[in-house]
Amino acid sequence: MAVKAKKAVTPVENLTKAQAKVELTRLALEISMHDERYYQKDAPTVSDADYDKLRQRLSAIEKRFPELVAKDSPSQKVGAQPSRAFAKIRHAVPMLSLGNAFSDEDVAEFATRVRRFLNLGADEPLVIVAEPKIDGLSLSLRYENGELVSAATRGDGFEGEDVTANVRTIKDVPHTLKGKNVPAICEVRGEVYMMREDFLALNKKQAEADDTIFANPRNSAAGSLRQKNVEVTASRPLKFFAYAWGEMSEMPAPTQFEMVKWLHKAGFVVNPRMTLCRDVEALLTYYREVETERASLPYDIDGVVYKVDRLDWQNRLGFVSRSPRWAIAHKFAAEQATTVLEKIDIQVGRTGALTPVARLTPVTVGGVVVQNATLHNEDEIARKDIREGDTVVIQRAGDVIPQVVSVVTEKRRKNAKPYSFPHKCPNCGSHAVREEDEAVRRCTGALICPAQAVERLKHFVSRLAFDIEGLGDKQIQEFYDDGLIMHPVDIFTLQKRDARAVRKLKDREGYGDVSVNNLFAAIDARRRIELNRLIFALGIRHVGEGNAKLLARHYGSMENLRAAMAEAAAAQTEEGNTSEAYADLNNIGGIGDIVADAVVEFFAEKRNVKALDELLAEIEVLPAEQVRTDSTVAGKTVVFTGSLTKFTRDEAKAQAERLGAKVSGSVSKKTDYVVAGEEAGSKLTKARELGVAVLTEDEWLKLIEA
Ligand code: IVH
Repeated sequence: MAVKAKKAVTPVENLTKAQAKVELTRLALEISMHDERYYQKDAPTVSDADYDKLRQRLSAIEKRFPELVAKDSPSQKVGAQPSRAFAKIRHAVPMLSLGNAFSDEDVAEFATRVRRFLNLGADEPLVIVAEPKIDGLSLSLRYENGELVSAATRGDGFEGEDVTANVRTIKDVPHTLKGKNVPAICEVRGEVYMMREDFLALNKKQAEADDTIFANPRNSAAGSLRQKNVEVTASRPLKFFAYAWGEMSEMPAPTQFEMVKWLHKAGFVVNPRMTLCRDVEALLTYYREVETERASLPYDIDGVVYKVDRLDWQNRLGFVSRSPRWAIAHKFAAEQATTVLEKIDIQVGRTGALTPVARLTPVTVGGVVVQNATLHNEDEIARKDIREGDTVVIQRAGDVIPQVVSVVTEKRRKNAKPYSFPHKCPNCGSHAVREEDEAVRRCTGALICPAQAVERLKHFVSRLAFDIEGLGDKQIQEFYDDGLIMHPVDIFTLQKRDARAVRKLKDREGYGDVSVNNLFAAIDARRRIELNRLIFALGIRHVGEGNAKLLARHYGSMENLRAAMAEAAAAQTEEGNTSEAYADLNNIGGIGDIVADAVVEFFAEKRNVKALDELLAEIEVLPAEQVRTDSTVAGKTVVFTGSLTKFTRDEAKAQAERLGAKVSGSVSKKTDYVVAGEEAGSKLTKARELGVAVLTEDEWLKLIEA
């Protein structure tokens, strides 16, 4: 419903200059959004291949219209900007990246280039260190007089993030260097990573706590290192391999190999697979050995690194742009295999997102048996034209979730039909809709979908919704698992059912007469509920606390809201909605198309309405809290800051809003009052700077009493 067809992509050669300009701006925005998700939040939302496509299109357009290349175009930047959440540290010696070799010829050329540059005679041996390329994130540790003084991420290579406090919790990082003749200044560099096993265990824990799931060990290491709370980092099993250095006041050894040995003596963990090679053949043999071992290693690697051993030669070779001439990364091809895609299953996430999963004939990829692969979303299936029964190429590239790369079309059965993505939720049958510009299709059966039930129920009883004392996430989960509370209405019929039940609630572990009576009393106390809280509790997509209030105030009663939404739903078409009811909804200040569509979708699902009716039979809906226009603070903007002692932050906010004030989270010139509790910080300072009236809690109470 209301999903606009995706625009066809205009080939670069057909773009006018004006179109190219618009497109470049859009691509730059999209790329920087993905960069931020990848580098700053460690949570990418597109596959590497899709990301590369965006970059390729941007460079193709820039190549055709060089005059349109912006100074801040993604093509002009290297690596990621440091995240703003951490202080910055400038690297004394820049942290550069490595050039890549993808074939045996590339490796031979590397050796030839080095020989030519150094003008080595044919008989002169060129010794090269070979070691695994760890798929983690690089870190620079600064030691002064043997003591760890700072730790920084790579960032853009020149400036990284100050992660010193977090790094001090990593066991592999010594706080003091061992040995007698430790140089006064030592910058030790290497890779922070996470063992595969630890990564899987962490994800399991995260899933249980309903917390971020990491895509692969690399993201998980990055996310764990860049925590604002040091204790979180401390609880994560991070590891560190030392393999390089930055500023050194003296060099303890003359070769790469000896230097790494020295790092080991100084207290670091170094990779035991580091080897010396005397010719290209030895490098390639090493590469193949490590590639065979790859799947059974306890951590992810994405290639091997070759480094000229003699440091005097490294110095002579120097750098080309951002990579050393004396080193190169020989990358592994992503591990691929061919198998049959038997079936596409749709999984429904706890927030209603429909995700397609490929069920495969089991096949071994890089030592791991793969039976499922992600298909990302509807568009991805269409773009690759993936059909059930197809023979497909799948790939594991560092990521633990394998992907379908392409279809072997020659092997396609004649009667194979293009896949048609369901428009109904496979779990509850409600319609599943896509919002404009969203790749994900979502189930609209907020109140009835079993896949979403627990999440919805938790939301239903949460603080800003029904707020039932003694009925939190834990109890909801238990009651749901036991089949006692499956739908919101079940909360209010619990007591009646318990009276008839053989196994009573009071006999459950952790319960007794008192706690059960308290629970029933808390539930009864909430049978009378304000309309805005009820609307918020329904869990309609995009309807948070604020929008629920707007809807409640506008419609005044559940009956009015439902009648209007029924009228709007009847008029909803692919092209949009021309009903008066929809226009009226859309005209509420603060309610845009996306919110309006989501509300209409919710009420268009008859079973949501049925579940709501059942609930309404058990509760009494009070009119929305009305906003006063005659109070002393009506129309004023207020900010509460610091710890309040006379009331909770929520109470203060609710009361101010009832009196017609707008409560804001930040201080600006538009703020009328800042109510400062104890230990108020930057907001108070800002209020003083801007000359905004600052009140104590008592002064505020006096003001609103007046
Ligand atoms: S040496 C001057 N050795 O690969 C460059 N890098 O693509 C010094 N990496 O940013 C880097 N394992 O994060 C080196 N054994 C290894 C490595 C390694 C992983 C990473 C490192 C670097 C990236 C370059």
